[in-house]
Amino acid sequence: MSTTVNSIEPIVWRDDRLHLLDQRKLPGEHVWLDYGQSDAVAEAIRLMVVRGAPAIGVTAAYAVVLAARQAWNTAGVTWKQAMTAPLAKLENARPTAVNLFWAVEHMRQFYMNLADQYSPEEALLEEAKKLHQQDVNANKTMGRLGSGLLDNNSVVLTHCNAGALATAGFGTALGVIRQGYQDGKIKHVYVDETRPWLQGARLTAWELIQEQIPMTLQADSAAALLMASGQLDWVIVGADRIAANGDVANKIGTYSLAILAKYHKVKVMVVAPTSTIDWDIQDGSLIPIEQRDSCEVTQINGEWIAPEKVSALNPAFDVTPAKLIDAIVTEAGVILSPTLEKMQTLQAD
Ligand code: MRU
Repeated sequence: MSTTVNSIEPIVWRDDRLHLLDQRKLPGEHVWLDYGQSDAVAEAIRLMVVRGAPAIGVTAAYAVVLAARQAWNTAGVTWKQAMTAPLAKLENARPTAVNLFWAVEHMRQFYMNLADQYSPEEALLEEAKKLHQQDVNANKTMGRLGSGLLDNNSVVLTHCNAGALATAGFGTALGVIRQGYQDGKIKHVYVDETRPWLQGARLTAWELIQEQIPMTLQADSAAALLMASGQLDWVIVGADRIAANGDVANKIGTYSLAILAKYHKVKVMVVAPTSTIDWDIQDGSLIPIEQRDSCEVTQINGEWIAPEKVSALNPAFDVTPAKLIDAIVTEAGVILSPTLEKMQTLQAD
């Protein structure tokens, strides 16, 4: 059994700077980049040095600390006024993962209560570290709750990377898979390669192999055949934004998996912290979907795989209706067959 369950930490604050494990380079190269300016962190989020909704949120919280350091040294305006532009830049980095907006807003509310005449950096750093630790704790709780839903020796399929790399550590969907494997609930994991950015092939496979969890990588288009074979028990995925009624935005391809799963009577579990729920959005049709550069579809590692003049569509996420989901697992509890009313029981906390 694995002893490295907590070992992957993609976000580290050290020597007054933010250090990010460059996820564009994994698994081939382990490159750490470090940041002292919040605008550079916003760019790192946009370019997917760090990715995955909870990881983006924690990164943004640390970027607010860097923005405050800079704002404190800005002449002519109060530091609170000088925070406006860098925070707007952070919020513009990526549109779908609501954890980004949640974290920036949390930090904003926090600093608005601080005195104008003292440097806010230390207090904000403590708060960012708190959010960082809260995310790890939430993942461990979700791991236990999600594992509790599985029968012994289940076979599961996951899409994208909702692992330690996509969070502050341990992972959401991969947190359930880690815990489920330790509990004897999971015997095998199928991993979608996750076109076009290949989060599954590059990141999820890397995480599972390090922990010696039995896995098989497959092309996304192989999922239907796998389900038709009758081997699969659950699809387990993360989320980038969950609407108040339980509709889920997640990596492009999740919706197709959920439709296939319904047809083949395979269950679907979505694992996400409550910071991924957008209570202001009534249903999934209102979730903004990020459109990324077509070169992610037409090229691999900078090499053209399509004719150079081709036009390509690259939506990064899709929305799975709540009625296709069997369970939403959060740190505040599990919602089975989610509806607006059932989801609201999470909000009470
Ligand atoms: O574009 P990405 O790699 O940031 O997308 C990530 C996903 O879709 C994940 O499944 C989701 O953020 C959940 S991560 C715990």
